[in-house]
Amino acid sequence: MDFARPHVIKQSIVSTSNIRVVNTEEPHASEDHQKAVTSREELDQMVVRASNQATRDLILASYPVELRDDRFADASLYTERSIPRKETIQVGDLVVIMESFDRLTFAYIEEKGMYSNRHGHFSHKDFIGKPFGSKVRSRNNQGYGFCFLLKPTPELWARSLTHRTQIVHELDQSQIIFQLYLRPNMTVVESGTGSGAMSHAILRTIAPHGKLHTYEFNKMRADTARNEFEKNGVSHLVTVHHRDVCAKIEAEAGFDLPPCSVDAVFLDLPEPWHAVPHAAKVLKPNARIASYSPCVEQTQRTVEAMKKAGFHSMKTMEYRLQEHYVDEIEYKSPPKAKRPKFEAHDNEARIMSASAAGSASGNGEQSDDLSDEVETGDDGELAGDEMGEGNEIKAKMVVARPFASMRGHSAFLTFATAGLHA
Ligand SMILES: C[S@@+](CC[C@H](N)C(=O)[O-])C[C@H]1O[C@@H](n2cnc3c(N)ncnc32)[C@H](O)[C@@H]1O
Repeated sequence: MDFARPHVIKQSIVSTSNIRVVNTEEPHASEDHQKAVTSREELDQMVVRASNQATRDLILASYPVELRDDRFADASLYTERSIPRKETIQVGDLVVIMESFDRLTFAYIEEKGMYSNRHGHFSHKDFIGKPFGSKVRSRNNQGYGFCFLLKPTPELWARSLTHRTQIVHELDQSQIIFQLYLRPNMTVVESGTGSGAMSHAILRTIAPHGKLHTYEFNKMRADTARNEFEKNGVSHLVTVHHRDVCAKIEAEAGFDLPPCSVDAVFLDLPEPWHAVPHAAKVLKPNARIASYSPCVEQTQRTVEAMKKAGFHSMKTMEYRLQEHYVDEIEYKSPPKAKRPKFEAHDNEARIMSASAAGSASGNGEQSDDLSDEVETGDDGELAGDEMGEGNEIKAKMVVARPFASMRGHSAFLTFATAGLHA
């Protein structure tokens, strides 16, 4: 690539990540160079090799020799970043389908697949090759039905997945990840797996070399989650354990992992206090734990168990989401004339003046004040012109309005830090 010198473009190839290689007709351009890049795939591989080389030269070279681990210079693990193939939809891809503002579903794309909803029938063929974010029209209903094809993220997945259990939603997910101090390459334990909503959020954070051990005692849920992780392309980051972490028999309970080997534990269990002592064993000193419980009684028992197991810095939180939408609205300026006299006001005025007249002082001032409030004709009505009808000015204004409902309460979240092991 050389943008400084003028050249005659003979052939140019663009990588998936929009890096362009231009083959020139310069006489000194070696044959090797001319042959070097003939396809997008080849260029993609070159981008990966170049990224690896750059990581080795610029980053790893400054590390002490014993820390120069080539595993950390493998851009093929970050294909989303170095070769963002997923910008267009391919067979086998998971696509989140936005049917309406508050209805999201999903589909795995198949060559001959069909997706149907109340808006119509959509052929997967119409999805393949389209960039994520595209709007597609139904094949029936004269194409009136449409939906949007979104690229999956843990947040969208939580809103679209098939619920097999209660799940942890985006707001709580974000706080759990934040309060557990999760970072790439960490080892994390989770129980139970449930519908795998929280697992996906953890996996994105601990990629590319991290490991999630997720424990679920319901065999069907464990198998379904394992299968889903595989289909969603994250199975290399997660091991699903079919195990009762609160089992009464000590040897069968807890997490079958070496002591002090885990960076964070997340519990979403009906009786988390039974799992807390096991978590304390596998957590590294000063590592973090979070427990998610819908009832405050569960939280109280969990905090007691945490104290007993040597955890400190306990904090219980409840998060609520108040969304606002910012929009331009059209409004009519209010009428300039005074407001008309309503029956209700008359009655009120009458009652008040009667009570004023009946009182000891009885000077009727109140009734006078009220009747002063409106200027009316004999019949007590305001004429249209006086009300300003027809003279209203329509204006536009950008406003921020809160949504009528505030989402919550989903659960209490208790966070704590593991003590130092004796
Ligand atoms: C509320 S769900 C977890 C949802 C999950 N956090 C999500 O976001 O999708 C709780 C799960 O814990 C599992 N579970 C309950 N007690 C368990 C135990 N003692 N050991 C392992 N799993 C357990 C249940 O089968 C259920 O699937």
